[in-house]
Amino acid sequence: MNESPGRPVPPLPPGVDPAWLPAFALRPVGSRRVRVVGTGPLVDTVRGEVVAAVREHGGHLVDDGPVDLDLVCAPETGGGPEAFTAARAAATTTVRAAEGAGLLYGFHHVVRLGEAAFTGTWSTTAAPRQAIRMLDHWDNVDVHPVMGQVERGYAGGSLFYADGGVRADLGRVAAYARLLGSIGINRVCLNNVNVHRTEARLLTDLLPDVARLADVFRPYGVRAHLSVSFAAPITVGGLATADPLDPEVREWWARTTAAVHAAIPDFGGYVVKADSEGQPGPFAYGRDHADGANLLARALKPFGGTVFWRAFVYNHRQDWRDRSTDRARAAHDHFSPLDRRFDDNVVLQVKHGPLDFQTREPLSPVIAAMPSTRLAVEVQVTQEYTGQQKHVCHLVPHWREVLSFRPWGEEGGTVADTAAGVVAVANVGDSPVWTGHPLAQANLFGFGRLAWDDRLSAEDVLDEWIGLTFEDRTVRDALHQVMGDSWRTYERYTAPLGVGFMVRPGDHYGPDVDGYEYSPWGTYHFADRDGVGVDRTRATGTGFTGQFPRPWSDVYESPDTCPDELLLFFHHVPYGHVLRSGSTVVQHVYDTHFAGRDEVHRMALIWATLRGRIPADTFERVTELLREQLRCATEWRDQVNTYFWRKSGVPDARGRTLY
Ligand code: GCU
Repeated sequence: MNESPGRPVPPLPPGVDPAWLPAFALRPVGSRRVRVVGTGPLVDTVRGEVVAAVREHGGHLVDDGPVDLDLVCAPETGGGPEAFTAARAAATTTVRAAEGAGLLYGFHHVVRLGEAAFTGTWSTTAAPRQAIRMLDHWDNVDVHPVMGQVERGYAGGSLFYADGGVRADLGRVAAYARLLGSIGINRVCLNNVNVHRTEARLLTDLLPDVARLADVFRPYGVRAHLSVSFAAPITVGGLATADPLDPEVREWWARTTAAVHAAIPDFGGYVVKADSEGQPGPFAYGRDHADGANLLARALKPFGGTVFWRAFVYNHRQDWRDRSTDRARAAHDHFSPLDRRFDDNVVLQVKHGPLDFQTREPLSPVIAAMPSTRLAVEVQVTQEYTGQQKHVCHLVPHWREVLSFRPWGEEGGTVADTAAGVVAVANVGDSPVWTGHPLAQANLFGFGRLAWDDRLSAEDVLDEWIGLTFEDRTVRDALHQVMGDSWRTYERYTAPLGVGFMVRPGDHYGPDVDGYEYSPWGTYHFADRDGVGVDRTRATGTGFTGQFPRPWSDVYESPDTCPDELLLFFHHVPYGHVLRSGSTVVQHVYDTHFAGRDEVHRMALIWATLRGRIPADTFERVTELLREQLRCATEWRDQVNTYFWRKSGVPDARGRTLY
């Protein structure tokens, strides 16, 4: 048999954390006799993994001969392009897949199983629940003086760009691509959805460098995409218009896209933020978003590319005095009439909630309103509104709730059943631990795992990550206690009962209860001396509840049936309103804010018990970050509690200190 030596595992630059693929995680495979059969770039990737693992751990890559094997990775006919079968029988573990991608995913399935992959008799057939499992990087080439290089990035500068262009050395990107491939991510968008002047050139003169990035991702099954500006025909093409119905504009996009495909044969497509927060779009020409999206879709079509058209379209220059405009309604108002108008290579990319990645929002009703349109659900792994990678906030339980939500009630399918894909805003940068906060790696890992299979339990995904990341088996329970409920903890000490925001304007970190209240952004809570919350009912409010199908349109309409955690998203109620939990709104605010802050204190105490069982630098870094989380949670507790105490005049029933 003539086997290639395999693609070398990209070495980690000095000081860079191995994340969930440290040497010890490869030991069970690496200490065994393994055969990898087949050819092709992704099979080479698998073979390279085995070569490195057996070299490290004393096993053997057995290319030939009648040797007893512990693990065989081999092609089979049949099965989807990303599917695999993994099984163990007669003391041999096998991974079989029709294509290289499936083999890679099956190999990493075995890595995750660890020693369990080599005991007993078992069998699994696996295929991804979502065909599109994508990360959007909000990376810029240029470094913004205030925002930094990565918009809403909390992990340092960009992995991809330095010194005004794509990095010369892409070694770290290769290590990143390997991590993504190991969790089944299959698409990555390489630049910020807000496309600025320099980044617009990624599509044209910087394209050869984009092709270098795509080359690095390809062997891990990850296709590259670019965010493009709708005005690119003008700004980089020199045309007088970007009107989607103009023949010259169409011709420009066709030509430009052909050039992209010539440079990157498996180019995935474009991500577009149009008519949103100042980005150009089809509205300028009196066209709608289907006209805009189809323009790009037709340019991509001959090459198998996809347009990811974002539904984040709303009026960000609202007058806070105007009670008739409701930002939550905007995406549904704009897009639901366009169902059936989009070409089949358009994916409408919809944020999970109607506002903007808040800690708690109802599902975006767009997701249930466009049966003839391919939809991708967008979540935010970067923790813009969830503690900015200074706070431990394990988001997997949140995304699991989103994906398993049933928009049509118990009888209907889930969001994951309905979606054509899932997309997340990435949380990595050039930080030595990739994600700034070492424990935020769990969110990146967990996103990939849920994108593959939303039915995995959040608990299991967390344990999987802990087991792969920390060699000391005894840390699991404590880490689980620190992280497992941390999203709900974060919810408790921040904006109450689904009302959202209350963050500091601009950077969105820390409390500022009225920070956005008299602003043009459309994110209000309407607290006064009598009550708080936004009336979005059909009966007396903005009518947003009517954008949901039954049963939710009715459930949300009445404060008696609306789930407590969303009460203030849908209703303006008096402070004395009694929740379904039996507590009043104002007492709930006090109780949750005291409890949430105290939970952070408890998290820090539990973390402290891990000294000596966690690598020292990680231990110290997280200890320091927990100190900041506690400071910030205390600030949230005191500002929110004091705000509602002053507004309502209702004292805490338990007599705790309100300032
Ligand atoms: C949020 C975020 C912006 C981002 C926008 C988007 O509003 O604050 O930085 O550009 O989402 O998703 O487009």
